Amino acid sequence: MKTIICKDYDEMSKKAAEIITKQVKEKPDSVLGLATGSTPIGLYKCLIKEHKENGLDFSKVKTVNLDEYVGLGEKDDQSYIYFMRDNLFNHINIKKENTHVPESNKEDLKLDTEKYNKLLDDIGTRDIQVLGIGVNGHIAFNEPDDKLNLRTSIVDLTEETIEVNSRFFEKKEDVPTKAISMGLEDIFDAKCIILLANGKSKKEAIDKILNGKFVDTNFPASLLHLHPNVVLIVDEEAYNG
Ligand code: F6R
Repeated sequence: MKTIICKDYDEMSKKAAEIITKQVKEKPDSVLGLATGSTPIGLYKCLIKEHKENGLDFSKVKTVNLDEYVGLGEKDDQSYIYFMRDNLFNHINIKKENTHVPESNKEDLKLDTEKYNKLLDDIGTRDIQVLGIGVNGHIAFNEPDDKLNLRTSIVDLTEETIEVNSRFFEKKEDVPTKAISMGLEDIFDAKCIILLANGKSKKEAIDKILNGKFVDTNFPASLLHLHPNVVLIVDEEAYNG
């Protein structure tokens, strides 16, 4: 795992944006795997700036997202589809039909996972997958457990994740308890994985990855040691606390 230590959140975001900008310039029809949450917002701002100021062209780019809450419609401002449109897609020249966020409308969850797995199979290996990390080591919504899913599945969020994510909702009871999430095999099907982490709250998790010398499904991010091309971009707070 290659590690890049940045002085702060802005530098972390810029570094990640540089890698993605280079990728899209070199291969205009790149397939990008994207994440939501507070971590990649700065990266998306940098990509929007690249598009607006330097004409970075997303017209042939395809994207697939890691996960989505179960039961929130696209109009709900806490849904990940809403987040992606609001923070990136609506501000660049990407075609709507080339952007994919898993759907989970509660009526037939199994069908939702099958559809997304088919989409991932059809779209093929991603050029880059962006990941954030949960304080408990989750990647996408693969929560610590004795077994982890290989493919897109419906997952139960842990109490800890519900608590952490409640900061985005009016009250904790509003946080969905289930999500649809890519599995580990899906996450690994990327030529390069960029793992982003910033802030003190991520220090313990980053320390486990860098100094833990283990892989353990009860700390899902540790499995990233098994991927041949992971770039960890952290700010000093996440690195040193
Ligand atoms: C989001 C996702 C999650 C987040 C993680 C960190 O699509 O898959 O794994 O990356 O929960 O969230 P933030 O960035 O809000 O700390």
